[in-house]
Amino acid sequence: MGPVIGTAGGDERIGDEGYVVARHEGVTVVLADSATGLLYGLFHLVRLGEEAFGAARPAEHHRPAARLRMLDHWDNVDVHPVMGQVERGYAGGSIFWRDGALRDDLTRVRAYGRLLAACGVNAVTVNNVNVHATETLLLTDRLRDVAAIADRLRPYGVRVHLSVNFAAPVALGGTATADPLDEDVRAWWAAVTARVYEAIPDFGGYVVKADSEGQPGPHAYGRDHADGANLLAEALAPFGGVVHWRAFVYNHRQDWRDRSTDRARAAYDHFTPLDGRFRDNVILQVKHGPIDFQVREPVSPVIAAMPRTRVAVELQVTQEYTGQQRHVCYLAPMWSEVLGFRPWGPAGPGVAHVVAGDVADGAAGGGLVGVSNVGDDPYWTGHPLAQANLYAFGRLAWAPSSDPAAILDEWIGLTFPAAGGNDATGGDDGDGGRLREALHEIMDDSCGTYERYTVPLGVGFMVRPGHHYGPDVDGYEYTPWGTYHFADRDGVGVDRTRATGTGFTGQYPPPWSEVYESLARCPDELLLFFHHVPYGHVLHDGTTVIQHIYDTHFAGVEEVDRARLRWAELAGLVPDAPHARVRELFAEQLRCAEEWRDQVNAYFLRKSGVPDARGRRIP
Ligand code: GCU
Repeated sequence: MGPVIGTAGGDERIGDEGYVVARHEGVTVVLADSATGLLYGLFHLVRLGEEAFGAARPAEHHRPAARLRMLDHWDNVDVHPVMGQVERGYAGGSIFWRDGALRDDLTRVRAYGRLLAACGVNAVTVNNVNVHATETLLLTDRLRDVAAIADRLRPYGVRVHLSVNFAAPVALGGTATADPLDEDVRAWWAAVTARVYEAIPDFGGYVVKADSEGQPGPHAYGRDHADGANLLAEALAPFGGVVHWRAFVYNHRQDWRDRSTDRARAAYDHFTPLDGRFRDNVILQVKHGPIDFQVREPVSPVIAAMPRTRVAVELQVTQEYTGQQRHVCYLAPMWSEVLGFRPWGPAGPGVAHVVAGDVADGAAGGGLVGVSNVGDDPYWTGHPLAQANLYAFGRLAWAPSSDPAAILDEWIGLTFPAAGGNDATGGDDGDGGRLREALHEIMDDSCGTYERYTVPLGVGFMVRPGHHYGPDVDGYEYTPWGTYHFADRDGVGVDRTRATGTGFTGQYPPPWSEVYESLARCPDELLLFFHHVPYGHVLHDGTTVIQHIYDTHFAGVEEVDRARLRWAELAGLVPDAPHARVRELFAEQLRCAEEWRDQVNAYFLRKSGVPDARGRRIP
């Protein structure tokens, strides 16, 4: 088992970003080796409130588990005709870009740096992983814009990274090819990168989505991902920069009739043969699940399969598939489960140890990356309660074993003055206590609630194609995207076993390769991800699959309604404007949850012909 990581532990080193808080002769002291460490220490005092100045406090050491704690902004400089200013953004426009240019007033960017430092985030990618024509220019002609953002974020210990177009040398007219083994291409990247560092000496590095969903990459030249990533890594190495090379690579033009191709397998099949070939400033950025940020997926097997590669895990803070910041969905419990997952079984290290580089004989860690949920909305995140996801992302990247409910509690204390800060909870009977209790009721298990009224038992998708909001059970069923549920009159689910299916279960080390393979041992919540079963299949709790679908969908909607009423009771305890905003959003969440319930239940009733054992109305 790996050591305890993040915050404290027995190790006495303060580290680059760490700090010590102690009481010394009646004075509270923060010690650090760097300005950033001091800043993090200051924010820790803010979290502690009065408690930091109490009589007796043992000295505390804090330092981050993961060195890189990055938010990727999927922001476009130009408004994209389909995706808008922020791809999958639900909080207004970009805080950096507006109408094709850098914003004139960057006051908000400075405030953002402060917010990020308070959460523990230390890197930001300022543009979308899908790099269009204008954004390609950020590397060269518009580098000044990136430098201006870097200047605003630097005082808060946040480094700037850039998403780059792999074909930039061609797109910008520098060379005739983007072949990673071509000498001219190498020279082009070296020269361009040197100029980036002249403008931004602490520039973090490049993020690359290559050979993925139509983005250019090394395959066009008969080269592989290691050739591509190493090209950029070589250019960045003299300056200490890193390449985040995304592992989100799959065939998005698959034939839905072909049941042997399995999108879940793709990243592992592409990348594991390359383990050991990446330079040490390449970080392979792997989405936490094998498909695409669904509310329930197993942990990606790639994370445990690349011992000689630095691996970062990518989470989606922006709620593309989890209610688009119109629904309350506190994601920290899901992330915490991912980070705590032990791919080699209970005695082995966990995902958090891999990203922290804390695995014996493993590579250095690549850290944690989140797709940002921030925009120019006054509350930053559209839904005021979605701020908790931003906060929790940073806190979990710092200390992955933190309890999600405790993180939420911190956020409540820092966010709502009526909660009385983090030192005085107001007791159980005061207003502060009431507010805290209600917010925990509303948020602690909101991700579970979302899962209950949406997609059953890990099968994924069933969302409206394109924008991905609201239900459409067959929306992706006969499309090239590789996200199917295979429901028919007899059963539902994807057979990913080695025995009769796509063989995906074989990408896990034991014990999971055996657990997922076995119909009897597979955890219920992932059953339909791994197995195709009849509707009458009995789950571990004794319910049939079809009855589970009905029950959870009714329950999920009831839970949303309860949360909505609970929120209404908080009028007066929460400032009026955010109270009204959340109240309106709850009305939409309830409407949408009812639509999910009715579509999913009606769909499976019609397919299976099995009535609800409790005789509730299904349209
Ligand atoms: C999802 C998302 C896209 C995004 C892609 C990615 O598929 O819908 O908007 O570009 O992930 O992570 O690259």
